[in-house]
Amino acid sequence: MNLILFRALVLFFVMIPGSCYYAQIKDISPVLPSPVVYKRAKGNLYLPKKISLNKDAFPEHMIAQLDTLLEKIHALETVDTRGKAFIRLRKLKNVPKDFYSIAINDYVFISYSNEKSLFYALESFIQLIQTEEDIKYISKAFIQDYPKFEWRGLHLDVSRHFFTVAEIKKYLDIMAFYKLNIFHWHLTDDQGWRIEIKAFPKLTSIGAWRDSTIINHFTSEPRQYDNTVHGGYYTQEEVKEIIKYAQERYITIVPEIEMPGHSSAALAAYPEYSCNQKKQSVPGVWGVFDNIYCTKEETFVFLETILEEITDLFPGDYIHIGGDEAPKTNWEYCINCQKTIQDNALLNEKELQSYFIKRIDRFLLKKNKKLLGWDEILEGGLSPNAAVMSWRGMQGGIIAAKKSHYVVMTPGSHCYFDHYQSKSKSEPLAIGGYTSLEKVYNFNPIPSGLSSTEAGFILGGQANLWTEYIPDMNQLEYMAYPRAIALSQSLWCTDKPEFKSFSKMLYTYHFPLLDILEVNYSNSSLKPSIDFIGFNKGIRIKVNSKDSSDVFQTNISEDGISKNKTFTLKANHYFDVQAKKENTVKTTITFKNLKNSITSNVTLKNHLGLGAKITFETAPNPQYNYTQSVLTDGQYGMRPWRGHEWIGFDSDNIVFEIEFEKKKKIKTVNFSFLKSNGSWIYLPNELNIYKPSRKREKLFAKSTIKTEQTEIKINRRIRKLRFKISTHKKIPIGFPGEGHTPWTFLDEIEFN
Ligand code: ACM
Ligand code: ZN
Repeated sequence: MNLILFRALVLFFVMIPGSCYYAQIKDISPVLPSPVVYKRAKGNLYLPKKISLNKDAFPEHMIAQLDTLLEKIHALETVDTRGKAFIRLRKLKNVPKDFYSIAINDYVFISYSNEKSLFYALESFIQLIQTEEDIKYISKAFIQDYPKFEWRGLHLDVSRHFFTVAEIKKYLDIMAFYKLNIFHWHLTDDQGWRIEIKAFPKLTSIGAWRDSTIINHFTSEPRQYDNTVHGGYYTQEEVKEIIKYAQERYITIVPEIEMPGHSSAALAAYPEYSCNQKKQSVPGVWGVFDNIYCTKEETFVFLETILEEITDLFPGDYIHIGGDEAPKTNWEYCINCQKTIQDNALLNEKELQSYFIKRIDRFLLKKNKKLLGWDEILEGGLSPNAAVMSWRGMQGGIIAAKKSHYVVMTPGSHCYFDHYQSKSKSEPLAIGGYTSLEKVYNFNPIPSGLSSTEAGFILGGQANLWTEYIPDMNQLEYMAYPRAIALSQSLWCTDKPEFKSFSKMLYTYHFPLLDILEVNYSNSSLKPSIDFIGFNKGIRIKVNSKDSSDVFQTNISEDGISKNKTFTLKANHYFDVQAKKENTVKTTITFKNLKNSITSNVTLKNHLGLGAKITFETAPNPQYNYTQSVLTDGQYGMRPWRGHEWIGFDSDNIVFEIEFEKKKKIKTVNFSFLKSNGSWIYLPNELNIYKPSRKREKLFAKSTIKTEQTEIKINRRIRKLRFKISTHKKIPIGFPGEGHTPWTFLDEIEFN
């Protein structure tokens, strides 16, 4: 949408009395994340153009940032005074960690407990300022605030795509504005090594550059490449500059140096530290690679020399050493690795991985640092001082916390911001999955079932931005915001407001702020959404809008024949399109109020099972079960896959029944599965179709599954069918997700 128009619209809502949007939310703090206490008093405090304060009471960098933001957002400035200041300070003792309070009365009175909390108070102060016809004011109020979790992280993968120093600084600026305090800097991966290491210059002269990068989704065939060199790295001087910049924003940087896997770029530079020692180039394709560090002695010398430089550079407590997705294929046949297993009386390659991490842990301990790794570091036994970052759900974190290890929760379900954020077909290409704003908002890093002592080991949470499909800053901001604000809300707030009031505050006040800060946030969550639902005669098009007063105009074209209709939207408005043999239904919907036009295309395939009732005996995983009707809605799950379009199971036996309204003659059933082994999604082994019966089921048909599309003949008049699908018990060794039950993804089941 045109951002200026959007801002004008928001001002319109804020400023018109009566119809005023702001009037409904004035008792909610405009500050995000929401403060612990926000109490309104009568009246407003009007701000002078020059806000006086005693500058000696603030660190110099804090005043510089305050000035920049006040000028940029509010066209205000500060002046130094020795006398009665407009912003007055008081230092407190014996309050919660990072506590501050702000009393807005005839002036602004900030109480703070430490430098960081004074910074947080100033960020809140900036967000409290409102505008009415160029007049700046703050509603009189009293605020008390402090964070719930100490780890409020945002990660950035600079390996898959490189981001400049200026871009990293902007990323840190916006994090600080929303009180996120950990920047997890993913500095190395297969597709590029991004930090200067003085002892090993080839890491950046060779490892920081790739010849070409895959275009489109990595599962799309045939694979195509851009044939353009991509790369870059940060010199140690630049790293120091970024560390200082982060410190001035009270953000701790956690650098990640990946080992033993995701090390192709390093091994392209120094193949002598791999098992096969073969020369290879930096890959331009995404995935998990067999070529990992060899566990011979020389490799440890190499890695410890690198970590020596890393620990000297970064002042934070934690060093992240990766540990995820390390296939053991090469270790199995490598004589050096097998010797390490024998010499150290290890049972297998899993224990070898644990041995690897333990050695690195001992080294980091000597350097007075703490080791942090992805939850795979639990395999083969957790190293005594290791902290765990739980990404494959929360289970790894639960196990670690129960063993009294510190944990950061970053489950794929709520914290992977490389997933799609809306169901709209116009979302830009992403890796897959579906992580909506509301889902992020509801994230709670403390899972049920932990004692309060165990829960005490959960440091907090973090969102991850893997950049395979995020080539530039624009796209990065689009994927990060506003979800990162919802994340901050879920990690900061003691008692967060309802999602509805949060989203109103977000749309009316923070989107315009983000516009001023030139952040390319996504307004997907604001846009009305359209669902296409199968029913027995065709397809139901359901429009969901945030604002029930929206008027919309729609153009539907069926097989090229166009119809225009204007609707005043009621809650859950829908209209039906009758099915023909194969319908192409295209809708263009324009919302008058929001000047917000969205287009959705859908191809409807008519078949005898449209809208049939499904009863699952095996529950689909809730992460991939957005609507059951997906399986019989006449639309096939798209490739590359999107989370909400498929039903996903994580059991090795899947049972469900499908029932029609009445008996029908069914000749064939066509199943459509998804195969995406890199995402742990496999074709199942076998499919059986039965006539359901309480006493004795009768087998109608049976088929082994060899391809994504499988047609099974049944040739019967039936009303109800029972399906049993069996999958591989475990993903084979050497493949991503080895040892786990594979995912089975299904959509659609077509009856003819
Ligand atoms: C990960 O997403 N491989 C930690
Ligand atoms: Zn080896």
